[in-house]
Amino acid sequence: MSFPVRLPDRPPFAIRARILTPLAAGGFADYPDGVIAVGADGQIDAVGDAAAWVPRLAAVSLEPIDLRPFVVLPGMVDLHAHLPQLPNAGLGAGLDLLTWLDRYIFPLERQFDDAEDAARLAPAAFRTFAAAGTTTLLAYGAVYKASMDGAFRAAEEHGIRAILGKVMMDRGTYDKTIDPATILDRSLRESEELIAAWHGADGGRLGYAVTPRFAISCTAEMLRESAALAARTGAWWQTHVSEDPGEIREVARLFPDAMDYVDVYDRAGGLGARTILAHAIHLSDRELGRLVETDTRVAHCPSSNLFLASGIMPLARYREAGLRVGLGSDVAGGPDPSLFVVMQVGAYAQAALRTVVGETRASLAPLDWLRAGTLDGATALGIDDRIGSLEAGKEADLIAVDPRLTAARRDLPYDSERVAPDEVMSRLIFRAHPDMVRGAWVRGRRLEGPPSD
Ligand code: GUN
Ligand code: ZN
Repeated sequence: MSFPVRLPDRPPFAIRARILTPLAAGGFADYPDGVIAVGADGQIDAVGDAAAWVPRLAAVSLEPIDLRPFVVLPGMVDLHAHLPQLPNAGLGAGLDLLTWLDRYIFPLERQFDDAEDAARLAPAAFRTFAAAGTTTLLAYGAVYKASMDGAFRAAEEHGIRAILGKVMMDRGTYDKTIDPATILDRSLRESEELIAAWHGADGGRLGYAVTPRFAISCTAEMLRESAALAARTGAWWQTHVSEDPGEIREVARLFPDAMDYVDVYDRAGGLGARTILAHAIHLSDRELGRLVETDTRVAHCPSSNLFLASGIMPLARYREAGLRVGLGSDVAGGPDPSLFVVMQVGAYAQAALRTVVGETRASLAPLDWLRAGTLDGATALGIDDRIGSLEAGKEADLIAVDPRLTAARRDLPYDSERVAPDEVMSRLIFRAHPDMVRGAWVRGRRLEGPPSD
């Protein structure tokens, strides 16, 4: 299979390809033979039909690079992943969460303790996410400040849009350096230093999320102080909630005064529009109502939820209630960094709900999954004014995907212009190929990761 000779590395440039995107005002735009023009400032100048735009661009001496039959989509927004866990991706299927954490995750994160580890592993992690089509990543590090600092430096250099946070644990921690008397203050101080260094860096491309791991590894005081730190600094706040039945029982034991799991975070002042909670799959109606009322955002991680046999999110019920939901790979709880694979597993999980428990609400169509993995993720982060769709005035975070790799028969010609947009997306989800993302750009700057030849 032949690939284009050259991909643009830096703006300004224009690409001619099929262009498919959700729109901020609702609905989708699909240009079977389209053009997207990116200005020198890395913003999208124009998106439209080639017939109209090729002559206009010629008038300003800009000749589009012809990537047909590639499909250009907004870059994926992964709302939940763990950087140091990538080496163990795919290990431990079916273990319950707490056993899996003890056996496969805490010993791994424990090693991620200095800047050298981060310098070695973080660039490879960002290349891996970019190769999967992710251009915005909200991720957890390990508990150590030095490796988090190194991970931020690697993200700065790589070019991916990244919101990261040092994990905070003041009980049950794997931290080699813990002093129980000072762990709370130290974790808060180190998080604050990282916020000062990185939150909003490079014109807002990098950001900080204050990251108490989950209620089992944090005291009520840690949860409260971390939420106050996020509120004071304008950083995001992220943690896990209601993922696994054993976890939920343990949280009830540790927080006997709380009404339920969501209430533990509510009492800490942790709910709100700058909060992203991962999983949230076993919510009661009260908990769901409270998340909606406080405008709290959720990262849906279906591949993780099935890998660890945690459960299935009643997504249609949540969406009907008005919960804002984006998608997360949860690597390494989810074995694959690709949000296309996450969409695939999510779609199968929703189908299972229909057949097994008789869910009758409409499930997501392929283009709805595209929106969930892009614009809905950007909205969950509150940055949908800048990214999440391919519209003039937004920053040029985009990917170019080769749909020929998703065809059932590789030897048949693939005429991408003649395939309906929901069918293009359906194939990208249900026949996702590890090499189908051929290029990924943030602000028009090409990211290392996708195979280049
Ligand atoms: N809950 C607390 N820590 C973790 C983690 O690392 N992964 C997952 N999936 N759930 C968690
Ligand atoms: Zn997680």
